[in-house]
Amino acid sequence: MSSARLPVLEKFIHELRKVWSTNADNQSRMERAKPLLEKFVMEPTLKAHSRDWPSTEGHKNLLLYVDPDYDFVINAVVRVPGRKGSIHDHANAWVLYGLLDGTESLERYDRIDDGKRPGYAELKLASVTTGSQGKVDLVPPRSIHAEQGGDTRSVAIIVRSRKLGEGTVLQGRYDPATKTRTEGYGPTQVPYELVA
Ligand SMILES: [Fe+2]
Repeated sequence: MSSARLPVLEKFIHELRKVWSTNADNQSRMERAKPLLEKFVMEPTLKAHSRDWPSTEGHKNLLLYVDPDYDFVINAVVRVPGRKGSIHDHANAWVLYGLLDGTESLERYDRIDDGKRPGYAELKLASVTTGSQGKVDLVPPRSIHAEQGGDTRSVAIIVRSRKLGEGTVLQGRYDPATKTRTEGYGPTQVPYELVA
């Protein structure tokens, strides 16, 4: 029953639906959703609730919400200390990535080859930003990046313009050591209701 949903999440969903209903394109929606996510990840009740969330090790996401009208999705990831993230893109999805607990670093990469050789990709590290609770990154479609865990357990909330994962859209995966690019589905989606 939706009345049992954690009130701060209910409010966040309501705010996002308003943004989606009043903006037509995903870039504008995501830019307007960014300050809302910045506020959401500072909610003390959400942070307290997240202490019990299960680890998403093994390429998983907690699936907190899928909007029935606008198709945007709210996910969570719970990383173990020292988690090494692999380099990937999100295909055509727009993604907001907001830290709720712990610290993580976001590495962004530039592609320096022309993209014409199938399976081949040359990358250059463009920037690394480390953040803690309240930091939100906007990751545009096909932007190449990696999320790296910190010294402690970390939790992030993700808003996606569309669902990713098994059977949806293939995302790029990159290995700078071998200069290869492969494709695969994103994390396994584990339905997880936040109830009060
Ligand atoms: Fe990502």
